[in-house]
Amino acid sequence: MRSEELFSEAQTLIPGGGVSSPVRAIKPYPFYTRKAAGSHLVTEDGEDLIDCCLGYGPLILGHAHPAVREAICSCTEDGWLYGTPAEKELTLARMLVADHPSVDMVRFVSSGSEATMAAIRLARGFTNREDIIKIEGGFHGAHDGGVLIKAGSGATTMGVPDSAGVIPDVVKHTLQVPYNDTEALSALLENNDNVAAFILEPVLGNVGPVLPDENYLAEVRKITEEHDVLLIFDEVITGYRLGIGGGAQVKYGITPDLTTFGKIIGGGGLPIGCFSGRRDIMALTAPAGPVYQAGTFSGNPLSLSAGIACLQYLRNNRGGLYQMLEENARIIGESLPTNKVGGFVHLGSMFKLFFRKTPPRDYREAKQSDTEAFSVFWNKMRKAGIFLPPSQFETNFLSVAHTEEDVAAIAGGIF
Ligand SMILES: Cc1ncc(COP(=O)(O)O)c(C=O)c1O
Repeated sequence: MRSEELFSEAQTLIPGGGVSSPVRAIKPYPFYTRKAAGSHLVTEDGEDLIDCCLGYGPLILGHAHPAVREAICSCTEDGWLYGTPAEKELTLARMLVADHPSVDMVRFVSSGSEATMAAIRLARGFTNREDIIKIEGGFHGAHDGGVLIKAGSGATTMGVPDSAGVIPDVVKHTLQVPYNDTEALSALLENNDNVAAFILEPVLGNVGPVLPDENYLAEVRKITEEHDVLLIFDEVITGYRLGIGGGAQVKYGITPDLTTFGKIIGGGGLPIGCFSGRRDIMALTAPAGPVYQAGTFSGNPLSLSAGIACLQYLRNNRGGLYQMLEENARIIGESLPTNKVGGFVHLGSMFKLFFRKTPPRDYREAKQSDTEAFSVFWNKMRKAGIFLPPSQFETNFLSVAHTEEDVAAIAGGIF
């Protein structure tokens, strides 16, 4: 197999077992993708797969969508990096501001990781406090700003590094609480007046998805306000995935202080991120303010062009498009045999089959899933021509490019 050959060489050239990001390290070897269009990937081994991974979420329009491709191609005629401001920054920023009541100002960066790193730095700079609180199991990128803490660690009040090379003195400022647990959050804040911010994925995309209990996010907002702690919603996955204007924040009617976006706002494939939010906080960003942040590729015209085209398409098709995505996820759930139905979770076009009897409410419950059964299931789906993210704890996604036949094939594959 060509993939096997390529992987064999990759292991000599690319550290970490031959892959550029850990989740791609599928055993015994990952398939290599030659090309992609619509809802399908074609592998170097000549297989045609229905893609429910979608680049881990960004590709809500599917692969190589004509509107995005046209925007990228026409941008290349005008050059792809200026090192100066360009009007497209304003165009995309205006869209984000218009779609999110919590967002007054937007600063573009090149990835979701950079966005959360900057948002945390900004929160610390604004409050002059050092600690942050994150959710056990919540993922905010792979940076040293205190987010690489072993999720599910027994220590909910003191972080321990989840990676060699991360300085314990930094992560000791990261505290953790379980998702859907407002009592733990209140208790932590009662005893600590050094907390700058609570950062969370409003819907835990990196565990499943795991959905918020009714009123959980509203309670979180109330508690953080009572303790004068900034609330950062990390909507890198959920932004524009759950509808226009969100994002979970609009869906659930919550106003965070800061929000990070990524993935879909780059047109579903070009590198991008942004941190955004309240004007008085955002105003502290350098050079106007004292919180430093910079990047050669920040606000590059290619990513912005792709993002603008994608958001424009989503806005123009807002009603029917999100309804169709939700309906397709529902059809897949309804196709499950009765002994599996209890573990099926979906929200809009995010879905997952957990190998447990009920939807998990937090990371610890998700971890109780039968991962061996998941692995058997994953391989079965792969043989049926369906590519799902290769982990029990990664969300599956649908795109507008998935056809009725694709949905029927996914639903059929599930048996
Ligand atoms: C919620 C969340 N935040 C941040 C990130 C990091 O984004 P990126 O991979 O673009 O650095 C991710 C990546 O999956 C994510 O899911």
